[in-house]
Amino acid sequence: MNIIDEAAAMFHEQFGHAPAHIVRAPGRVNLLGEHVDYNDGFVLPAAIDRATFVAFSPADAGHSTLAALDFDQRATFSPQTIPSRTQADGSPLPDWAFYPAGIMWALLEENLPVLPVNAVYTSNVPRGSGLSSSASVEMAFMLVWQAFGGWTLPAMQRALLGQKAENRYVGVNCGIMDQFASACGVENNLLLLDCRSLEWKTIPLPENISIVIADTGVRRKLTSGEYNKRRAACEEAVRLLQKDLPDIRSLRDVSPPDFNRLAAQLPREVEMRARHVVEEIERSKQADALLEAGKIESFGRLMNQCHVSLRDLYEVSCPELDVMVRVAQTLAGCYGARLTGAGFGGCTVNLVERDKAAEFAGSLAEGYETETGSRPEIYITRASSGAELLR
Ligand code: GLA
Repeated sequence: MNIIDEAAAMFHEQFGHAPAHIVRAPGRVNLLGEHVDYNDGFVLPAAIDRATFVAFSPADAGHSTLAALDFDQRATFSPQTIPSRTQADGSPLPDWAFYPAGIMWALLEENLPVLPVNAVYTSNVPRGSGLSSSASVEMAFMLVWQAFGGWTLPAMQRALLGQKAENRYVGVNCGIMDQFASACGVENNLLLLDCRSLEWKTIPLPENISIVIADTGVRRKLTSGEYNKRRAACEEAVRLLQKDLPDIRSLRDVSPPDFNRLAAQLPREVEMRARHVVEEIERSKQADALLEAGKIESFGRLMNQCHVSLRDLYEVSCPELDVMVRVAQTLAGCYGARLTGAGFGGCTVNLVERDKAAEFAGSLAEGYETETGSRPEIYITRASSGAELLR
């Protein structure tokens, strides 16, 4: 049974009838522009062919009931219980329910009606792997409540509200990239987003190129704390640099020559974090022209540089990610390899010549297993469309 029919069957089992609708919202992979979205930079993600699926119907009760198949748990909440982060029976919300509950919170903040639903959800985006499983849950539930709310929000607006939910309800100070990619994905295309103006365009993935995702299987627990610290360091850098550059609003406004001139004034760790951001924004500015001109080798080199910078300056890699990247870079057909997403474990993204992709995946799994003793999951992904009502 495919995952959509499975969600429908489970809905039937849980609630005794067929669901009214099913939505799908994808995870994402990012090719370039890492840890720059919250610095007003440019990112180049694609929605992937793994997603969260929600089967749902209107509910008669005064609250929504969500069954998470992947946790084998239920949670219940309503506009009344949202502020206290509790369930309808007064018990605390389980961690996984913060994402859908956060979406309800963000919609209520906008004074949009959020009617109760019964819902079952499941996902084949691996959790905590850097592929934005949480943004996919958020963007799926946006569509769930939109279906019966009597309102329609444009995709970018849904993404912004999802980011707000994550910042203010879940407590992760993320940027806009993940929700944007999940909401706005376009089949067979990369998405180039200016995180300051929110203008974006599609860039067709060249036909002879495959995106290969390699999952180390490493899952880090402390991610949100470390993530928020990186963001705070960037804000600190802006504050300190404003003494000499009063007009800057974010690290996006700092040119590499200005940064090099002033870097010595910054505390060592703040300097390292900010240098990654300033240089990564420069790299991501080149993406469009390089891809347009078919210069995949040059683009791949930027991906490789990005990994070094995330490893040594931003310090968000881990030994397993470094092994996965090092092995990939020795293999035939690989243009570029780096960790993708927030880091601290999870996946790498590899740009690979299409004809060599299957062989690349096999050799990468073997090489990684030889060095680490564990077999990674590796898959060739397709750039997919964004969140949608399937039926
Ligand atoms: C996480 C965040 C994004 C982005 C990336 C790093 O995925 O949710 O907003 O900051 O990390 O690029």
